[in-house]
Amino acid sequence: MSTVSTSIAPAAAPARTSAPADNTSFSVDFSDIGRSFTAKPERGAARGSTVAPRPVLRDVSLTVQPGEVLAILGTSGCGKSTLLRIAGGLDEPSTGSIRIDGSPLNGIDARCAVGFQEPRLLPWRTIADNVALGLPRRIGRAEGKSRVAALLELVGLTSFADHRPRAVSGGMAQRASLARALARNPGVLLLDEPFGALDALTRLKMQDLLLDVHAAAPTTILLVTHDVDEALQLADRIILLGADDDADDMAGGRTGATIVQELVVPGGRPRDRGSAELAELRGRLLAGLGIDRHGQARGVAATHTIPHFPY
Ligand SMILES: Nc1ncnc2c1ncn2[C@@H]1O[C@H](COP(=O)(O)OP(=O)(O)OP(=O)(O)O)[C@@H](O)[C@H]1O
Ligand SMILES: [Mg+2]
Repeated sequence: MSTVSTSIAPAAAPARTSAPADNTSFSVDFSDIGRSFTAKPERGAARGSTVAPRPVLRDVSLTVQPGEVLAILGTSGCGKSTLLRIAGGLDEPSTGSIRIDGSPLNGIDARCAVGFQEPRLLPWRTIADNVALGLPRRIGRAEGKSRVAALLELVGLTSFADHRPRAVSGGMAQRASLARALARNPGVLLLDEPFGALDALTRLKMQDLLLDVHAAAPTTILLVTHDVDEALQLADRIILLGADDDADDMAGGRTGATIVQELVVPGGRPRDRGSAELAELRGRLLAGLGIDRHGQARGVAATHTIPHFPY
């Protein structure tokens, strides 16, 4: 489906249809999610003194449909990773609840898989063995082996199966990490800036790969990204987290971030990056992020630098 090769090294081109066949995608329901963190009292503070909880997220209500790709944008520190961690059962909301496929989420859930900005591979294991770490517990040896082989083919790493992580590039390590996340056929794939540490070209190729993976096994994807164009290229829908009172950021910041914009991205994928429709959406999102049409953040000359959330 894509025109850009997903191979960044002399690896076999990824197959388009070799993902495990039993993939199921699930809905994710966020209902009135709030999250506050309580900091420890500062050094020297009076004994027994308490610090008020600091709200990070509030009133986040959203339903992600099965198979949908939802991008989560927002200024640095606004709570994107916190929301994703809550969706994966890695953190608990202070208020509200989460349902996956209609049933409540209680802690880490085998229906979800998480991918991070860094590949987090075990250096002493081969690429294939790292991917195998993502397999469900009770899978048979032969089935596990064939599933790993299919995933390595999907991400174009078949000929690197026996390499150690140090012997592959950053993009290849990230592809292995994606394959590991897919190994258990997650109904929900949670990705926290998965391509953030990659160079621009590798990043574009990884975006293409993610589209291929989703076409082969259309799991529900929640993708946290700082990159507006990445969100526009990959997502069916984009939410922007932030303070909901632009006129008074500080006050809004103290009450925690919530969904301040929600956009449906029209058109099938891959999309024409230069289309007028996407340009209009890009402008709206950048404005929501506090960046003007010259790419300047709050009057500072810093192209596409997303400002920090005002705490
Ligand atoms: N376990 C924790 N304890 C205390 N504060 C936390 C904890 N986890 C997150 N926070 C705070 O919550 C806020 C939101 O953090 P989060 O990592 O979700 O932001 P983010 O939007 O992902 O930022 P970035 O774009 O920089 O990754 C930050 O101020 C952070 O310090
Ligand atoms: Mg984050």
